Amino acid sequence: MASLAGKKIIVGITGSIAAYKSASLVRLLIKAGAEVQVLMTPAAADFITPLTLSTLSKRPVYSSVSSESGWNNHVELGLWADAFVIAPLTATTLAKLANGICDNMLAAAYLSARCPVFFAPAMDLDMWHHPATSHNVERLQSYGNHLIPVGTGELASGLHGDGRMAEPEEILNLLDRFFARQQDLKGKKILITAGPTFEAIDPVRFIGNRSSGKMGIALADAASLRGAEVVLILGPSRLSAPESKVKTIRVQSAQEMHDAAIAEFPSCQVGILAAAVADYRPKTVATEKIKKQGDELTLELVKNPDIAAYLGKNKAKGQVLVGFALETNNEESNALGKLERKNLDCIVLNSLRDKGAGFNHDTNKVSILFKDNKRQDFELKAKAAVADDILTAVVGLLAKV
Ligand code: C5P
Repeated sequence: MASLAGKKIIVGITGSIAAYKSASLVRLLIKAGAEVQVLMTPAAADFITPLTLSTLSKRPVYSSVSSESGWNNHVELGLWADAFVIAPLTATTLAKLANGICDNMLAAAYLSARCPVFFAPAMDLDMWHHPATSHNVERLQSYGNHLIPVGTGELASGLHGDGRMAEPEEILNLLDRFFARQQDLKGKKILITAGPTFEAIDPVRFIGNRSSGKMGIALADAASLRGAEVVLILGPSRLSAPESKVKTIRVQSAQEMHDAAIAEFPSCQVGILAAAVADYRPKTVATEKIKKQGDELTLELVKNPDIAAYLGKNKAKGQVLVGFALETNNEESNALGKLERKNLDCIVLNSLRDKGAGFNHDTNKVSILFKDNKRQDFELKAKAAVADDILTAVVGLLAKV
């Protein structure tokens, strides 16, 4: 359990009979060297005493946002934690979290948390299989939260079936693996391009595209969480990387993105090119705003440098280069053509035909195509989870180059 040493973990406990298992979970985490802050919903105290948990965690247990000793700072806690594990999670709290309802300390900390969130539901068989529950679980997953699957067996109601909370040892193992994997990019420097580019026509107008930058930013965050040093070259996106360790270089045009990328890439082991770069730019940029004239206006365009092709051509041994292909037709053959032409190690294909994929969504559905004709197809997921899948592929490629 070496990966858990020194990690700061919030354990959230809700009002289920399985709450007795949370005492073992807290004890195991403390034994593994983690710092644990327990948050309980008021109903959880009907099943297990806060005194038991504060003794095991060696910290006071919080239940409401305000108490006799003042205001409990949920925002601070949300930022403090490396992981937030809610075990057991009842149907009621699940529904609250899925809807952003915030009427206790656990729910407030959940909404404020920037760290990975894990949830281990516990409920009776029929409650677990109710469509409302399934819907709420999916909602949490769509926010990037990690489901710890329920077990099958004897339930407190006397029924037998799905709905048991995962065993504390299983939860501990899962967290340990998560943190071990999280550091699999330690010592690596990664260049990521993201967002659109704006190609100036005059001081007011530009040619742009609908890229939000969300996918590249999710990659930058995930890579930083997994221990990489990240340089994010970000086009004119309204968003920015929340991970404070990411070094962001802001650019406007394809030419600026190109210049920044070729300056940074030689010191990197990985390049992930998620930006939607304009292929053409106006040949000249008018110094004054272009006035309305006749019925037609012709703009002459010239080709922009292809950053991916340049980096692919100049790639050194040991460097991994990942491209993106957003296609509307002939998806696979277009993507494979780019993989080849740009000398990439793999290409992430997303189609505008897939619902929930592509520009501006919080979710994406991708396939990763590799040089050796292998491919991996993924389900529609939160962009944070897609970023992790791509980085896992990168880790695999790094081991081979
Ligand atoms: O050829 P296409 O633009 O569709 O290729 C997509 C891939 O190439 C993406 O990874 C994109 O970031 C990259 N690209 C680039 N420089 C360009 C155009 C595309 O790096 N000028």
